Amino acid sequence: MEKTAVTSRDFILKGDICYSKTKDALDCREKGVLVCTAGKSAGVFSEIPAQYKHLPVADFTGKLILPGLADLHIHAPQFALRSLGMDLELLDWLATFVFPEEAKYHDLDYSSQAYTALIEDLKKGPNTRSCLFATVHTPATLKLMDLLEASGLVCMVGKVNMDRHCPDSIREKDAETSAAATQEWLEQCGSYKNIKPILTPRFIPSCTDDLMRRLSALQKRYHLPLQSHLSENQREIAWVQELCPKSACYGDAYSQFDLFGGEIPTIMAHCVWSEDKEIALLAKQKVYVAHCPQSNSNLSSGAAPVRRFLEAGVPVGLGSDVAGGAHTSIFRAMTDAVQVSKLRRRLIGQNDAPLSLEEVFYLGTLGGGSFFGPVGSFEAGYEFDALVLEDAGFAPPFKLSLRDRLERAVYLSDNSHIKAKYVRGIAIL
Ligand code: GUN
Ligand code: FE
Repeated sequence: MEKTAVTSRDFILKGDICYSKTKDALDCREKGVLVCTAGKSAGVFSEIPAQYKHLPVADFTGKLILPGLADLHIHAPQFALRSLGMDLELLDWLATFVFPEEAKYHDLDYSSQAYTALIEDLKKGPNTRSCLFATVHTPATLKLMDLLEASGLVCMVGKVNMDRHCPDSIREKDAETSAAATQEWLEQCGSYKNIKPILTPRFIPSCTDDLMRRLSALQKRYHLPLQSHLSENQREIAWVQELCPKSACYGDAYSQFDLFGGEIPTIMAHCVWSEDKEIALLAKQKVYVAHCPQSNSNLSSGAAPVRRFLEAGVPVGLGSDVAGGAHTSIFRAMTDAVQVSKLRRRLIGQNDAPLSLEEVFYLGTLGGGSFFGPVGSFEAGYEFDALVLEDAGFAPPFKLSLRDRLERAVYLSDNSHIKAKYVRGIAIL
């Protein structure tokens, strides 16, 4: 099988194509044609339409062609910590492993070395979009953004804000200092093509009311999206209630500073323990939940009510939450999401149906991708993020449907099966 070199953002891929149209509708096209013009999908066809006959063709006949995957929640400085401290729960793990590691990012050489290793991993993997937490350090955060820009991946990156309840080594002196550093960082991230800043108060326990008010002002001035953590762990939630006694729920603690969705594109990671009031607020404010099933298992946080989010109309995507999760691949997050949903149903005794392949594939592509705009599908007009997977090695002695091949690839594929990877129509592998 010969691969035609693709040199511009106008080309055609041929192969076996799967993508989500909605959370329930998976489109599978065997021997399909996927057209990219100016870095966007022009649609999926059975034959090359006449107006595109002049375009170069990359022939991936027999291989799977899927949208790139979106990781809505990853901690860049925690890549070096993967799999360490997994016998602890959230607050002890943060204190024992995470905060001491993040303190090392005042050192730019250390940061460069560690971030380079992360980005090598991300480039080879199936994710094309990520929302990353950095650390409180501006130079290291800009270094991460420089390295990501060079990789061709499209990402949102946040300098973290913390002015309380963490070691002095990573605590910003006060709210004013933290907000000023954030503004200084924002002034320096205007020139990236693929990397955008995202406001990142770590979580309520890390940020004083004064800091939250200042971040809210910055958010309005710079029209920034926002990412943070919500209702991950029961001890954390009780602590937030002590810190914000007037809030009706954890989400309401963000709302009080006008930092909970609505006009602001917002991601809240975890939402394991969200109850009716909080789910209604997430839905009303169109806040994205980054569901991180591996992290929620590793840190004994629990099993998030994803079925309830979907029924309530809350936008949901998947997150690796490295290093709560040990794997960056969102394929892995898809299978973890299925498995955790089955355990939730059995052990929590609720009637929520487990998540299906169609649903988790949607969450890891279009569900999370939509946070970045028209991303995560191959319908005409979507940005052209695509993966080509060689799945011949998984073939059984009987014929599989394309949908079944997709399911097997989601469970079994690793980076070695990725034969090509495109972001906004540019081949990056
Ligand atoms: N809550 C606040 N910070 C963190 C973090 O680094 N990881 C996770 N999983 N939860 C958090
Ligand atoms: Fe996290």
